[in-house]
Amino acid sequence: MSRLAWNVNGRDVEPPGISRETTLLQLLRNDLGLNGPKYGCGLGQCGACTVWVDGIAARACVIPAHGVAGRAITTLEGLGSRGDWHPVQQAFEDAQAAQCGYCLNGMVMQAAALLAREPRPSEQRIRDELSGNLCRCGTHVEILDAVRRAAV
Ligand code: FES
Repeated sequence: MSRLAWNVNGRDVEPPGISRETTLLQLLRNDLGLNGPKYGCGLGQCGACTVWVDGIAARACVIPAHGVAGRAITTLEGLGSRGDWHPVQQAFEDAQAAQCGYCLNGMVMQAAALLAREPRPSEQRIRDELSGNLCRCGTHVEILDAVRRAAV
């Protein structure tokens, strides 16, 4: 066990007792109470746990927390909040792009990262970017609509 600091949503935090085996997702959910990122596969394959590390979308379930100490971590909670939604969050609400909602964290974080880099991506770019984020309900039509709305 060692004591390190993480910058999460613009705030420096130093939770005690983070072992070398602790993943970034465990740190965020279990130690910091940030439940935006979800546990899906735990293998880096479904996208439910997506966060930003230095502005780049990344799979928190396979990143050792120690490996990103001192880096800027952004979670869904840091993107926006009720009454002050990020444009992508607002577009997902406007498009009613949720069924069970479990994938939404990853979809929103991945789409927001894309639009931060490419404000007006092509349809193919949007599809390619979200191709690694799984939605079991089949809400893809509404999700794509939401990203298009946010890209305008
Ligand atoms: Fe991390 Fe599936 S839970 S990619």
